[in-house]
Amino acid sequence: MVAPLGVGIAGLGTVGSAVVRLIEAQQRTLAERCGRGVRVVAVTARSRARKRGLDLRGVSWARNPLALATDPNVDCFVELMGGADEPALSAIEAALRAGKAVVTANKALIAKHGVRLAELAEAHGGAINFEAAVGAAIPVVKTLREGLSGTTIQRVYGILNGTCNYILTRMEQEGLSFAECLKDAQRLGYAEADPSFDIDGHDTAQKLAILASLAFGTKVAQRAVYVEGISSISPQDLRAAEQLGYRVKLLGVAVRTAKGIEQRVHPTMVPKTSSIAQVMGVTNAVTIDGEGIPPITLVGPGAGGAATASAVVADIADVARGARVLPFGRPVRRLRTTTKAPMERHEGGYYIRLMARDLPGTAATIATRLAEQKISIESIVQRHPDAAAVGNGVARTKSTPVPVILITYATSEDAVHRALRAVQRDKVITGRPQVIRIEKN
Ligand code: HSE
Repeated sequence: MVAPLGVGIAGLGTVGSAVVRLIEAQQRTLAERCGRGVRVVAVTARSRARKRGLDLRGVSWARNPLALATDPNVDCFVELMGGADEPALSAIEAALRAGKAVVTANKALIAKHGVRLAELAEAHGGAINFEAAVGAAIPVVKTLREGLSGTTIQRVYGILNGTCNYILTRMEQEGLSFAECLKDAQRLGYAEADPSFDIDGHDTAQKLAILASLAFGTKVAQRAVYVEGISSISPQDLRAAEQLGYRVKLLGVAVRTAKGIEQRVHPTMVPKTSSIAQVMGVTNAVTIDGEGIPPITLVGPGAGGAATASAVVADIADVARGARVLPFGRPVRRLRTTTKAPMERHEGGYYIRLMARDLPGTAATIATRLAEQKISIESIVQRHPDAAAVGNGVARTKSTPVPVILITYATSEDAVHRALRAVQRDKVITGRPQVIRIEKN
């Protein structure tokens, strides 16, 4: 009879508490599936006194995360404290140096230190599992690392931040303002402690950097990801997208191109008919394009205690059953360094919204400047200002700008910027042009 796996949990917040409960509730199933029991033997948290509604009888309390990681009764150290650096980092390093298995949901830490930690795991015969770091309950790490290990991956992209998708969905469906939707996302506990991390795209960038490493065998490098958030997206863009057959999503995209691996996070127009466009609210989705097979899309809850606990417990189960894989699917020495792909070289279709002066020749000037850069226009729409704005007492005069919306065929970002600079010099538009990249499925 194999002894139960001794689990030590550092951090008893929403996720940590959910993990303790899930291990307790799934005891029998875990023992059947893993061939041995899984037992929480020790924990540590900032406050021991806090009421959590957990039954921790027979579980010892460690002084701090480091003491927990080196506790001889702990075979598997589970880090659920968060934070890219201390105290999580030293505790994980200590567990790995002792040859133990580590399970973490900490995307910031894996994005920053994942490669070095994988090296430590390899050197000391331990393991570091991080399924919950990306897409919570969606088993995308395992899918890329194990399920598709015989397939060359061309592109992996998806909705990796529940907060942003929740905001964009409610703005589109209910016409609410960005600020109102963000407030609700915070109230519902989706957003990070500092929500700018979500809305400026950094949370997505960390998750994307991890997925890109697994997909393309590169070293995780957040700095190689181009990042743009969603705060510039207006209800007007969402309405225009809808009328043109698109939806706006904050996507993380990692793609193999002739010039290298492109990793980018930005608001993106996706065709309304695509699988990714159907994903609404806090739900996450990842599409994987592999050579020789149709795309695979995984959809599921990407945030929240129960969803994250599901992935953490699955990682613990792998440790219990002795399933060991290299953290990034290859030995660290085989992972290639990747650099940031210059977005100026990005090629694709574009949505462009300009506030144009309502004068004869304006549309012709815009079309000429685009043609000079060999940009072909798929559609162009000039919209009159909202009736609501006029109703609100905004008198429309000849000088009131009107939105002109263009969809281009594939072109380079550089060409788009050159054309728009020329249009600005022509003084036929006011304000800054809105540019949103289009991703085709
Ligand atoms: N703030 C994150 C989100 C939580 O909104 O997706 C999960 O990483």
